[in-house]
Amino acid sequence: MNEVTLAIIKPDAYRSGNSGKIIDRIILEGFSINGMKQIHLSKKEAEGFYEVHRERPFFDELTSFMSSGKCVVLSLERENAVLKWREVIGATNPEEADDGTIRDQFGTNTGSNAVHGSDSPENGKLESNYFFPQKDLL
Ligand code: CMP
Repeated sequence: MNEVTLAIIKPDAYRSGNSGKIIDRIILEGFSINGMKQIHLSKKEAEGFYEVHRERPFFDELTSFMSSGKCVVLSLERENAVLKWREVIGATNPEEADDGTIRDQFGTNTGSNAVHGSDSPENGKLESNYFFPQKDLL
């Protein structure tokens, strides 16, 4: 069954010039890119996106980092998109990410970990809707 997941190329990977390589990888792994745009999140927008983490000790660090520069957000579709994208990006902490995963290749630490991926099919749809109205998805 086809699913939707939201990918974000985070400010660290954008700044280091790795957006193109990550987009290539997305295509190679068989995802259909239904929506893609560059954004610079405000602190408030980052807080809204990561609302579920509001009570976590790293919330301020996370939302400051995510609003520190440009990102690329992508609405991706594929069979088992959520699980597949999580496999391709690797563990949250790049030091624990399997060889060849995106976080292994381009991440630095748990905060600056190059990319985001939705954690469930339900959140994939919600997160895609956060950035893309249905009419903008191809
Ligand atoms: P992401 O997939 O974007 O979802 C939530 C993010 O919170 C996660 O990636 C990490 O970048 C970040 N995060 C999780 N734990 C920590 C932590 N201990 N310190 C800083 N950031 C964290």
